[in-house]
Amino acid sequence: MMKCLYLVSVVFHVAAGCELVKKTAVEEVTVFTGESVVLPCVCTDIQNKPQGLKWAFYRNNHAQEIYPKQTGHYRNRVKLVSNNSPGNLSLLISHLTEEDQGNYRCFVQADSRDLRLSVKGRRKISTHWRKTDTKPPSKKPQSKTTHSPPASSSTTLEQERT
Ligand SMILES: *[C@@H]1O[C@H](CO)[C@@H](O)[C@H](O)[C@H]1NC(C)=O
Repeated sequence: MMKCLYLVSVVFHVAAGCELVKKTAVEEVTVFTGESVVLPCVCTDIQNKPQGLKWAFYRNNHAQEIYPKQTGHYRNRVKLVSNNSPGNLSLLISHLTEEDQGNYRCFVQADSRDLRLSVKGRRKISTHWRKTDTKPPSKKPQSKTTHSPPASSSTTLEQERT
């Protein structure tokens, strides 16, 4: 049985090269500004080195190649994080801004895979942290009134936009 499976898989590679995992599903990824993200894209066989890999970014019906050609504001911000697995085509994007929000597509040969990236401002999460954060009473910051109340109006705006 194992031998048979192995043979099938060898024949398959010769014929098809890299077939992407979950190529029909759109994966949703949410991150915060300033962070980095790994957009997953892998061949069914992680040892398979694919030909003609390309990543593109889509926003407002405009397509932009971001890998291997790093264009626009993606220059020097993207790289592959294969970790010695030639079939791992996942793309690392660092220093995210809200401009990076949109759709991403990984292309290999005839296959492609879609991801949707949401980039959120940091304000919302720091507001939540402040609620649960218990500050040690000994540590008293000398500035009493410098930190303004959380901008609740802009937080609401952000939620409405999404
Ligand atoms: C591909 O690489 C990324 C980044 O190193 C890692 O998080 C992910 O688990 C890898 N995927 C597979 C299927 O090995």
